[in-house]
Formats: sequence, C-alpha cells, structure tokens
Amino acid sequence: MRVLGIETSCDETGVALFDGEKGLMAHRLHSQTPLHKAHGGVVPELASRDHVRMAAPMIREVLADAGSSLSDLTGVAYTAGPGLIGALLVGASLGRTLAWTLGIPAVGIHHMEGHLLAPMLESRRPEFPFLALLVSGGHTMLVEVDGIGRYRVLGETLDDAAGEAFDKTAKLLGLGYPGGPELAHLAEHGDPRRFRFPRPMTDRPGLDFSFSGLKTFALNVAREAAGTDQDRADIARAFEDAVVDTFYIKCLRALRQTGMRSLVVAGGVGANRRLRARLAELRDAEVCSVYFPRPEFCTDNGAMIAYAGYLRIAAGCAEELAIRATARWPLEELSAVV
Ligand code: KG4
Ligand code: ZN
Repeated sequence: MRVLGIETSCDETGVALFDGEKGLMAHRLHSQTPLHKAHGGVVPELASRDHVRMAAPMIREVLADAGSSLSDLTGVAYTAGPGLIGALLVGASLGRTLAWTLGIPAVGIHHMEGHLLAPMLESRRPEFPFLALLVSGGHTMLVEVDGIGRYRVLGETLDDAAGEAFDKTAKLLGLGYPGGPELAHLAEHGDPRRFRFPRPMTDRPGLDFSFSGLKTFALNVAREAAGTDQDRADIARAFEDAVVDTFYIKCLRALRQTGMRSLVVAGGVGANRRLRARLAELRDAEVCSVYFPRPEFCTDNGAMIAYAGYLRIAAGCAEELAIRATARWPLEELSAVV
C-alpha cells in the first residue's frame, strides 16, 4: 500500500508519501509564513490561493523524490478538517479528484488525528493505549487514546489554545509572526526568577485549561516594566515557564487519573524545547514513557496525514465519492478502526 497525504488546513502546504513496507518515502513542506508575516497573522484568502499554487507541483516533487509515480499510488489521504474552510477545500478537492481519476480510495483525515499519530512515524514509537497532549495553534487538549479513532477528550482549553496564547503574547512583546518560536527564542535570554506568572486552573480539580489570562498578565507586567530588551526576555521566560509548568501538572494529574503509562506530546507547541525537556522529566521519574515527534512533525506537515490515511485505508475506511471539508469537527466523532 502506498498512500499520498495532502495537508492544507492552515498556512502550510504539506505533501508526503507513506508506504506500508518502506515507511515514509518522501515529504515536502511549504510554509506560507513570509506571505502572512506583513499582516501579523494568517489571511485565509491568501492561504487558499497559495495552496492552489503549491499543492499540485509539490505532489509531483514528492513522487519524484521517492522515485515513484501516480500509478504506484493505492490511496490518497487529505486533511478534511478542522481548519480554514477555503484552505481545506484546496487539498480536499485535489486529493479526492486525484483518487477518483486513478480509481483508488480516498479518505478525509481529521487534522488532530494526524497530529496525535505523528509520534508513530518515529523509530521509538508508542503503543496503544496512551495519553496524548495535543497542543497547537487552534487546539489544546488531553486525550485518552485507546486505538485509531478511539479518542476520549479528558480536558481542553476553555478559551485560547496554547499556541494562540504564545502568538498573542509574542505580539504584545513586539515579536513577529508566528510568535511561538520567536517567544521561545527570546525566553532563552530571560531570567526565570524575575517574574512569576500564575499556573491557570491548576489549583482546582479537572483537566481543562485556560490561557487567555496569562496573556493579560503579561500585558500588565509589560506595562509596569521599563520596556528594555531584558524586560521583554524576562516576561517571555516567565510566560513560557507558566505554560510549561501548567502542562506538566495537568499531564501528571491525567496520568494518575487514567493509570496510563505512556504520554504522547504533539502539535506545534510540542516543538517547544522547554516543554519537551520538562515533560521528559516524567520519564526520568519513571512515571511514564514519553514520546514526541521530531520537531518538524510537531508543526503541520503532510507526513502525519499520509500515515493516518495509510492506517485508515488499510483498515478499509475508504469514503464515498464526495469532497469532505469541515471547519469544525469534534475529535470524538471519528469512526473507530479495530
Ligand atoms: O500544529 P501547528 O503547526 O498548527 C496548528 O494546527 O495550529 O501549530 C502552530 C502553533 C503556533 O501557534 C506556533 O506559534 C506554535 O504552534 N509553535 C510554538 C513553537 N513552534 C510552533 N510554540 C512555542 N514554542 C515553539 N517552539
Ligand atoms: Zn496543526
């Protein structure tokens, strides 16, 4: 089985080829960051247009990289949601049409399922069941994963997603877009003892999150400080420490609550170095095994979609001849694969 994966849910065009025997054969990523930078955030119309421009040529390139051709494909997977509807429609239309033309099955993949299965692309891979911390620009959730499509959301954010909080706080510190990596970079020079930010919702039971207050806290601290480079770095560090600590506390709580012995961390914020180091402490303390995708597979990519598609198509999950694109799509509504 050889499955082509296409990801166009937001501001990255990702294309990859996954083979049942050879594994990940090739993958390419085109980031639209330069396109959106001047606007301080993703402009949906520009995103769709750029996917239109890039997706088909990238499919040709990925096939060439893998020494493969369209006739070798046995399935196509595309991101069907959640995401920007116009952007999703580009990959969905292309993927579905390609599969129809080739007479092979196509499957619309849930973007967050792609993220949570991404650690399985690595040589050291988790086994079911596991606890997944999904932290991206649009989502923040703790999920009990019993198998493919067998997901139970244990907790999620009540307001901003973690990546969104990183991006907004970066913006108020005068950093560019996307803010997460820039804030993390600035935090490297920050003094961790200067400011202490709250660890939201850790003082009450439950596994939900709330990050919008941290951004306001950062704004108030920034207003009182003189505004030097060191002030900004110290604020960035305090913000990052608060987010990382909150995730540590909630993951530990969820592990104890569920009795799970494996933790998977995925999504764009999973690329954060300090978060990875802190959660790796759970492994050192022998609380659980911890699995991360390589940083480039934490952020959006085609490989995770090709892989999720491979698993679903192998299990017979091909879909009818319709193009699926859904801006909102609860993870718990996915069909289970046995
Ligand atoms: O998973 P992703 O690429 O796209 C979505 O599905 O949303 O996640 C993007 C988010 C952005 O908010 C970005 O700022 C954040 O992940 N991010 C980071 C880091 N790298 C990406 N946040 C903190 N530290 C990082 N190193
Ligand atoms: Zn994502």
